[in-house]
Amino acid sequence: MEQIVYVDGSFVAAADAKVSVFDRGFLFADGIYEVSAVLDGKLIDNDSHLARLERSVGEIALALPETLERIVEIQKELVARNNLADGVVYIQVTRGAVIPRDFVFPKDAKPTLVMFTSVKDIVNAASAKTGIAVKTVPDIRWARRDIKSVALLAQVLAKQAAAEAGCQEAWMIEDGKVTEGGSSSAFILTQDDVLVTRQNSSAILPGCTRKAVMKLAEERQLRVEERAFSVSEALAAKEAFITSASLFVQAVVTIDGERIANGKPGPITNRLREIYVEFARATAT
Ligand code: PDD
Repeated sequence: MEQIVYVDGSFVAAADAKVSVFDRGFLFADGIYEVSAVLDGKLIDNDSHLARLERSVGEIALALPETLERIVEIQKELVARNNLADGVVYIQVTRGAVIPRDFVFPKDAKPTLVMFTSVKDIVNAASAKTGIAVKTVPDIRWARRDIKSVALLAQVLAKQAAAEAGCQEAWMIEDGKVTEGGSSSAFILTQDDVLVTRQNSSAILPGCTRKAVMKLAEERQLRVEERAFSVSEALAAKEAFITSASLFVQAVVTIDGERIANGKPGPITNRLREIYVEFARATAT
């Protein structure tokens, strides 16, 4: 079946979907994106993703071309038209296409809204059982990482370096501390069973899955501390994992080739993954 995507008001075959070469997303990375998971044809934690979308566009003074209600309708129509059971829905909004190329916001640009789906069996991913390897890289990104900008070159390079080292994710390091994963939030479980993840600030993206997992952990009396941690602290931890819309909770078992504990996904990580999947199924829309 041919994939159907949404571009500026129309549902079209992927091969026929077109955006101008003058689109500011293409020329300046002047745009924002969001990714929501889909399980059994339903959206996971979608309100949280749409709230962050609204915040991100606000931070760059860009108006959404559709209401959030309409965006949800489009998400659902894409899921239906593509018969998507498990995967993600991607949303991207840019400041539109205006000729000639000019850095300053154009007065008459119409934002470009593009949305599409991808298939991914998140719940049954093989990596959940084995854990993944992480490579550390310097965090070379800009100073507003709280905005979910489509300017992802630093993460492309980080994740490529990780892939070339046989790793599945990069952990970005700044001032000796882990900021976050290339496309995920980073957690460790200390030897005294405290769940540690970096506090939200302009240094990281405020992860929707991070937020949900922290709440679920606290509700189960697990102590959660929001602070930065170093790679040596992570290597001395009992467990480590990452979270994101497209992974849920994913165990990390090595960092730069060094094992964390016995090099297997830990019991708390496995339990938090199960709890998150239960939460996702129970609250899916
Ligand atoms: N990435 N940090 C970064 C830098 C991210 O790109 C992401 C998500 C996260 C996790 O956020 P959330 O839990 O809201 O998905 C943290 C998405 C999945 C992506 O780029 O594909």
